[in-house]
Amino acid sequence: MSSTGKKYLVTGGAGYVGSVVAAHLLEAGHTVTVLDDLSTGFREGVPEGAEFIEGRIQDAAEWLDASYDGVLHFAAYSQVGESVVDPEKYWVNNVGGTTALLAAMRDAGVRTLVFSSTAATYGEPVSSPITETDPTAPTSPYGASKLAVDHMITGEATAHGLAAVSLRYFNVAGAYGSCGERHSPESHLIPLVLQVALGQRESISVYGDDYPTPDGTCVRDYIHVADLAEAHLLALENATAGEHLICNLGNGNGFSVREVIETVRQVTGHPVPETAAPRRGGDPAVLVASAATARERLGWKPSRADLAAIVADAWTFARREEPTAP
Ligand SMILES: NC(=O)c1ccc[n+]([C@@H]2O[C@H](COP(=O)([O-])OP(=O)(O)OC[C@H]3O[C@@H](n4cnc5c(N)ncnc54)[C@H](O)[C@@H]3O)[C@@H](O)[C@H]2O)c1
Repeated sequence: MSSTGKKYLVTGGAGYVGSVVAAHLLEAGHTVTVLDDLSTGFREGVPEGAEFIEGRIQDAAEWLDASYDGVLHFAAYSQVGESVVDPEKYWVNNVGGTTALLAAMRDAGVRTLVFSSTAATYGEPVSSPITETDPTAPTSPYGASKLAVDHMITGEATAHGLAAVSLRYFNVAGAYGSCGERHSPESHLIPLVLQVALGQRESISVYGDDYPTPDGTCVRDYIHVADLAEAHLLALENATAGEHLICNLGNGNGFSVREVIETVRQVTGHPVPETAAPRRGGDPAVLVASAATARERLGWKPSRADLAAIVADAWTFARREEPTAP
């Protein structure tokens, strides 16, 4: 991986994934400015060494100039359930905000973009593992807003020569140094199960145990956030003017909800009571990525695919966050 000392704007770099990627960019010798409105992120999440601007992507034109070599765009609202009850919030921020960001990039002559897309753009999969040519039929306004941005970026590459890569993450997990996951409200399985292990939550709800999977619970593809971060650096190196490359990012392995809970019990040594709950609408039985495109086009290979290792890193971070951790 090269460390040619470039300058990047990281939108949403006070959040979970953005902060880990910002840390990787700094370690590779790049200069990083984080633009984040702290709506769901944390000032102390911004890695040391990054310049911090508290502001919105809607106003990116105020700060973006030709000194930047590229933008890594994480800033978004990303709660699927919230997007169902308050869809306009997602269109305004995720789509409206990105429209302004793309215009600011065009005006400033910043012509490289890496965007956080999502497995939620596919909706109910038609086959497994999911490839980038599979149909996109999102089942939530969140997924639809991300897909709309992907379409906007394709247009920007075709019409204005943007060099763009969208990375469609599956389930991001784990932690990297002092950067880890703390969404509020938390909706991701591993941090929720860790909250049970920490005694912050009584039990973990298992939504449906009659899916057509080996143990009846939903299967998801968990990818370590540090593996994900490495893909962003490779995406910057491989972005090509006029092309919008879309790559799934996952391990290609699925783990069921029950396997995750059992792994948390083993890693933490704590009991984790479960509560059976009905299926949630829009939860596919299996979501597993084919990462063949990322492998072929970016030369990316995940190196932290072991679920116990991913959970162990998340556990270290969760205990750091908990003042009275056992
Ligand atoms: N975490 C996952 O498993 C996952 C999976 C697929 C895709 N993604 C995508 O990755 C990105 C990062 O996700 P995350 O889990 O780190 O979320 P996060 O909520 O921790 O980070 C998002 C950051 O964006 C900031 N932000 C939101 N709107 C903004 C705006 N208008 N202007 C400036 N800053 C703004 C928030 O304050 C926050 O710091 C999101 O775009 C999300 O859709 C995440």
